[in-house]
Amino acid sequence: MDAPKLLFTTGRIGRLTLKNRIIMAPMVRNYADEQGRMTPRYLAHIERIVHGGVGAIILEASFVSPEGRGFRHELGLHSDAVIAGLHDATRLAHEHGVRIGIQLYHAGRQTTAQVSGEQPVAPSEIPCPLLQELPRMLDRAEIHGLVRAFANGARRAKAAGMDFVEIHAAHGYLITQFLSPFSNRRPDSYGGSTENRRRFLAEIIDAVRKETGDDFPITVRISADEMVPGGMEPSDAADLACWLEERGIAAVHVSVGNYASYTRGRMIPPMAVDDGPLIKYAALVKQAVKIPVIAVGKLHKPELAEAVLVNGQADFIALGRELLADPDWPIKAQEGRSDAIHACIACNQGCITRLFEQRDVWCTVNPECGREREFADIKRIGAQRKVLIAGAGPAGMMAARYAARAGFHAVLCEADDRVGGQLHAASAAPHRSGWAEQLQDLRRELTRLGVEVRLNTRVDRKLVQQETPYAVVLATGADPIRPKIPGIGEVNVITARDLLEGRAKAFGSVLVVGGGCAGAQTAEFLMSQGHAVTIVEAEGDIAADAPLDDRTLLLGRLKTGGVKIMTHTRMLSIELDAVNLQSGEEVFGLTVDTVVLCLGSRSVNRLERELKEMVAHVFTVGDAVRVRKVTDAALEGALAGLGIARDAERDKPAVAVGA
Ligand SMILES: Cc1cc2nc3c(=O)[nH]c(=O)nc-3n(C[C@H](O)[C@H](O)[C@H](O)COP(=O)(O)O)c2cc1C
Ligand code: SF4
Repeated sequence: MDAPKLLFTTGRIGRLTLKNRIIMAPMVRNYADEQGRMTPRYLAHIERIVHGGVGAIILEASFVSPEGRGFRHELGLHSDAVIAGLHDATRLAHEHGVRIGIQLYHAGRQTTAQVSGEQPVAPSEIPCPLLQELPRMLDRAEIHGLVRAFANGARRAKAAGMDFVEIHAAHGYLITQFLSPFSNRRPDSYGGSTENRRRFLAEIIDAVRKETGDDFPITVRISADEMVPGGMEPSDAADLACWLEERGIAAVHVSVGNYASYTRGRMIPPMAVDDGPLIKYAALVKQAVKIPVIAVGKLHKPELAEAVLVNGQADFIALGRELLADPDWPIKAQEGRSDAIHACIACNQGCITRLFEQRDVWCTVNPECGREREFADIKRIGAQRKVLIAGAGPAGMMAARYAARAGFHAVLCEADDRVGGQLHAASAAPHRSGWAEQLQDLRRELTRLGVEVRLNTRVDRKLVQQETPYAVVLATGADPIRPKIPGIGEVNVITARDLLEGRAKAFGSVLVVGGGCAGAQTAEFLMSQGHAVTIVEAEGDIAADAPLDDRTLLLGRLKTGGVKIMTHTRMLSIELDAVNLQSGEEVFGLTVDTVVLCLGSRSVNRLERELKEMVAHVFTVGDAVRVRKVTDAALEGALAGLGIARDAERDKPAVAVGA
């Protein structure tokens, strides 16, 4: 493709000139320390991002007051102690000609006492429907105190050399809680009319301006549609944007949603949602104001991002997860090398799902995200020594990729006749094509790095004796569980893996046994092929292990498609055209033509013990250790590649071959 043009023109936000139209969206990483300060890990991550050609970066939602902390290790702007670390971040950005700002935020009711250490506060005593913790209503003195806290946060940002601040008035946090009738039922001058609900934000803008000076750019992020009954709607967004413009705001950043509507999959659109779902909201705001508008939300491809600008739907585009997946997205786009971008597959496994679990953010397709310092170590010290990798699923492919990156001769052996392992099954169901993208990306990397792939090859003792590798990586995955129940050997019983990988076929009506995320996706696959499908699940819920938004969307599609769901139900036995089930005390029969087993998997790791006696460096990774998600397998594989490089460096004197 031709390189995009408008994306790489300079743009202005207030007095600032940005070298291009690409801004990194604010994202909490959970890399800060307990006091909300910048860490060496975070700085290395920022350095990598700004190196990739982005025009500006907005640092994450940073709490301006301790009770407003929403994630254990997010950045803070609550104390002067944060300034030095932020200053380091500013320096890194400026060294690369990148503008840097930071989001001023307070979680309000969208946090818990467990995280912030105090009962959450809010305009009214209404719990967040998702977190369900009762907040305490702020009194007027406290509101004034928080206005000051926002201003002090901005002062610290400016003192740290930041180029601008962004006020986080989106996603259902404290400022949105005031703005929205969904969460604000105050009887005083901060509630009721639109003007009153905007008062808190108006006071914050005034206080921040007073603290930072007239020409210091302030941007505001808004939710153009809260997507909840009684919440802010698109018709309010244009009016709010005009109101912000009148107050001298330098740019409006247009997102959507709050925690209550998070499951609708628009705030951080998952795989099942088409690219660019929020462009229409940016366009709506763009028509209403003259100040720059920033669009965001699954703008995965440079062509789409360029089209947003060409069509006049926004002035800047913000990329969030795209830059976690590939910090070089901007450079590659500018050079017309879109095909070389490691695309974010919108799996949400490594980033937002981990964040909501209060863990640090990483990325399924980019194991280096958040581990930049560790991977910077990966030198070409392999000197072409051989590394044998058993199993070409995501863990094995990543191990081969990183072993090859470290200069080893990586030999990837796969018992099957193709690489990819469970990525094939994962990508077969509707709306799961991201996994196929990841497979394609990994394949491309293996070719680029010269990994030797041997299909139909099982690693065993004999092969290891022949090859005498320096290290072996065991990525032998997991096999589907087949319970020992009467009739399990019948011809009408197949595993979901065999079905999704095309080795087995279902006919007629189908019973999917096991309603985890994989079972629910298998049911959707069967539904899309026209089968009548029933799911039985022993627990009370189906797809309970799916990310929140994916789950809601998936359950909606299963419902629309007429899939029957039987929870608290176990399968007792199977006959040729029926199964016997039990729900509570009741035992009953169900006529079905095919039974598809989706009861999880069991690790396959038969080689570890014997190979450890033969090879000094043996790494076991992915499902072969313990069955988990693709994101865990991929990272573990990459870390094995890194581990081998480190071992080799330690062994250097003994084995260095002209290195
Ligand atoms: C891990 C993670 C953390 C996020 N944290 C913030 C945040 O601190 N402030 C904010 O306004 N949005 C936050 N978001 C939303 C992103 O800024 C962005 O709007 C969203 O991810 C959609 O853009 P994308 O498809 O380019 O990722 C976060 C998203 C992710 C994935
Ligand atoms: S973990 Fe998945 S969704 Fe998140 S940035 Fe990486 S590829 Fe994208």
